[in-house]
Amino acid sequence: MSRYKRSFASDNNAIVHPDIMKALQEANNCHVLSYGDDPFTQSAAERFKEVFGQNSEVFFVYNGTGANVTGLGAITMPYQAVICTDSSHIYVDECGAAERFIGCRLIPIPTEDGKLRPGQIQPLLHVLGEQHHSQPAVISITQSTEMGTVYKTEELKALTDFAHSNNLLVHMDGARIANAAAFLGTSLKALTADAGIDVLSFGGTKNGLMFGEAVVFFNEKLAQNYKYIRKQGTQLASKMRYIAVQFEALLTNQLWLENARKANDMAALLANEVKGIPGIRITQPVEANGVFVSMPVAAAEKLRQEYFFYPWNTDKNEYRWMTSFDMEEDDIMEFVEAVKKAMKAL
Ligand SMILES: Cc1ncc(COP(=O)(O)O)c(C=O)c1O
Repeated sequence: MSRYKRSFASDNNAIVHPDIMKALQEANNCHVLSYGDDPFTQSAAERFKEVFGQNSEVFFVYNGTGANVTGLGAITMPYQAVICTDSSHIYVDECGAAERFIGCRLIPIPTEDGKLRPGQIQPLLHVLGEQHHSQPAVISITQSTEMGTVYKTEELKALTDFAHSNNLLVHMDGARIANAAAFLGTSLKALTADAGIDVLSFGGTKNGLMFGEAVVFFNEKLAQNYKYIRKQGTQLASKMRYIAVQFEALLTNQLWLENARKANDMAALLANEVKGIPGIRITQPVEANGVFVSMPVAAAEKLRQEYFFYPWNTDKNEYRWMTSFDMEEDDIMEFVEAVKKAMKAL
C-alpha cells in the first residue's frame, strides 16, 4: 500500500481511515457556524448520547493531552491531588501539563500491569481533611492501560464504588478504550457510564481519526463549567465541525469497533508468532493492541534499524510493539521474520 515500512512504535502512526476522510470531505461543502454551533456538531453530540447514554454530555477537543488536562480541570481544585499509575500518560508523557494547568499534585502508584486497585489507594486517604496535605480527589485510570492490559467491568466497578464511597471521582483516559471494549466484547457504555466512570477522555486519533478527542461527562453537574475551562485551556476548535464529523463517522456502523478489533487481532497474531522464539519473553498479557517483550538489547537495536519502536523499560530490556488498524497479516509476518533474523544473528 505504501513505500514506507510499517513501524511498531505507536498506533498514532496509522493512516486516517478512508471513511473518516470521506466524512471530512463531505463536511467541506458548506458554510456553517463555528465553535460548535453547527448542525454537524449537534448531530455528533446526539450520536454520543446514543452510544454513552442520555445522561452523558460530550465536548470535542484537539488532542488527548488536552482532553485529560481540561477534563481533570473540570473536577479538581488546585489544592487537590489526582491518583494515577506511575506509567500513566498524564504522569509520564504529558510534560507535566496537568500539574501546570490544573495545579494539582499527581500521586503516581507503581503497578505491575498498569492497573489500579482499591487496596493500593486506601493507604493514601488518611490525609483527607488534613489542611497540610494535598487532598486526593480523583482517581485517574487508563483503559486500555499503557501496558496493553484491560480493566474488566468488575474491576472498574470495584474501583468506582471505592472512589465514590470515599468522595473521590474517577477519570478514565480512554485513548484506547475502543481496544478494551473490543477485547471484552462489551459496549462503550458498559465500560463507562454503567461502570460508574465520572469523566472520560475518549480517544479517536489512534483508532482512525486525523485528529480530535472528546471529553465525555456522565454527570451533568460536573460539566457545568467545562465550556469555560476548554476555552481557557486552548482546546476550543473554531472549525469544530471537522472534529465532530470524524467522530460521527467513527461511531457509525461500529467503525470504532471494526478498527479496534483489527488492531487487537494484529497484536494477538504478533504475540502468537513471537512467543516461541528462544530469548524472547512476552512480559504482559496481550489484551489490546500492544505487545510488550523482553529481548536482548543487541537484537532489539538491530531490529530497530529496520523497524522503529520504543524501549519501554531499559532496566528489564523491555520493548513495546504497538499494532494498529491499518496493519495486515503480511506486515506482522514480515516483522516476525525480521525478529527471528535479529535473534539468530546474536
Ligand atoms: C494513554 C494515552 N493517553 C493520551 C494520549 C494522547 O496524547 P496526545 O496529546 O498526543 O493526543 C496518548 C497518546 O499517545 C496515550 O497513549
